[in-house]
Amino acid sequence: MLFQVASLPSLLLLGLASGTTRAATTAAGTIRTVYKFQDTPYTAIENVGVRSNGDLILNTITAPKVYTLNPTASSPSPSLLYEFPGATSVLGIAQPSPDLFAVVVGNYSTATFQGIPGSFSVWTLDFTELPVKVNKVTSIPQAHALNGMATLPGSLTTVLVADSSLGAVFSVNIQDGAHKQVMQNEVFEPTSSFPLGINGIHTSGNTLFYTNSAAGTFGSIPIASDGTSAGSAKAIASAPSEDTYDDFALTSGRDAFVATHQTSLFEVDPDGTQRMVINSPQLNNPTSLVFANGINTACVVYVVTAGEAESNGTAAVSGGVYAVTVC
Ligand SMILES: *[C@@H]1O[C@H](CO)[C@@H](O)[C@H](O)[C@H]1NC(C)=O
Ligand SMILES: *[C@@H]1O[C@H](CO)[C@@H](O)[C@H](O)[C@H]1NC(C)=O
Repeated sequence: MLFQVASLPSLLLLGLASGTTRAATTAAGTIRTVYKFQDTPYTAIENVGVRSNGDLILNTITAPKVYTLNPTASSPSPSLLYEFPGATSVLGIAQPSPDLFAVVVGNYSTATFQGIPGSFSVWTLDFTELPVKVNKVTSIPQAHALNGMATLPGSLTTVLVADSSLGAVFSVNIQDGAHKQVMQNEVFEPTSSFPLGINGIHTSGNTLFYTNSAAGTFGSIPIASDGTSAGSAKAIASAPSEDTYDDFALTSGRDAFVATHQTSLFEVDPDGTQRMVINSPQLNNPTSLVFANGINTACVVYVVTAGEAESNGTAAVSGGVYAVTVC
């Protein structure tokens, strides 16, 4: 998660000239608004999942709500799926088996951009039978700021969750609720000036990829079958100056498309080469993305945005869902 922070300078375009975009012969970098929230007070979308039928699952951080949205409808409009009790926000999402999702629920302070320790829990959204079943898996009292979520390779029942404040990763068994901290690493930690360390996490093979928003890094670490580390972390890329990495999506070739504040999407190759796919004011604080239909070779991604909170007399702007071509 990441809100616009007043102290973050606006995006500097210097150094991000046209040479950093994909080849002009492709259609990469076009953007289309799928849906933009217009409600008051504003709605910030924090993360997104994709069902097997192509519908999107939208988690909001400004309310404890999950919506579903058919992005290919002629006039896409979200339906409220569930409102979680006793929390302010819904954050990370992972899909350990087809149409079974796990989500992070908890409290984030919009004043400090920090999680409230002791407020976090993991829930499941089960679309395999309708009506959808929503179940609380477990509270995670020791967590401080749960954020991104990933599947554990080889497991249909365990997910990994990043803690942006502790610089840690927890494993959570969604069947029996068993959970524990499996990693803590200085490369995951926040900085003294920015409270969000490890943010997005995704796995491919036996590798966990992560962004650290505060450190401005994208990296990887080998993991064992229980989610503990099996080697040293490797830095792959750094966010361009003045930009901030948020959550991301991986292709089958382990290219990462990274939602990057304040208004862009970057593609990072496994060797660390990165290029800007798009920089558009429509992508107002992009927070995460999924490939269309969940197919990681798709040329369309759906990027969700937080918009911006009211600040210093400027009205709030809600987030939305945007279709961006990436190849
Ligand atoms: C989280 O927020 C909800 C809704 O405002 C509140 O009822 C609950 O007490 C909070 N939990 C913690 C641990 O602060
Ligand atoms: C708020 O806006 C006013 C008028 O544009 C400006 O002078 C002031 O520096 C701003 N304050 C902050 C904290 O950004």
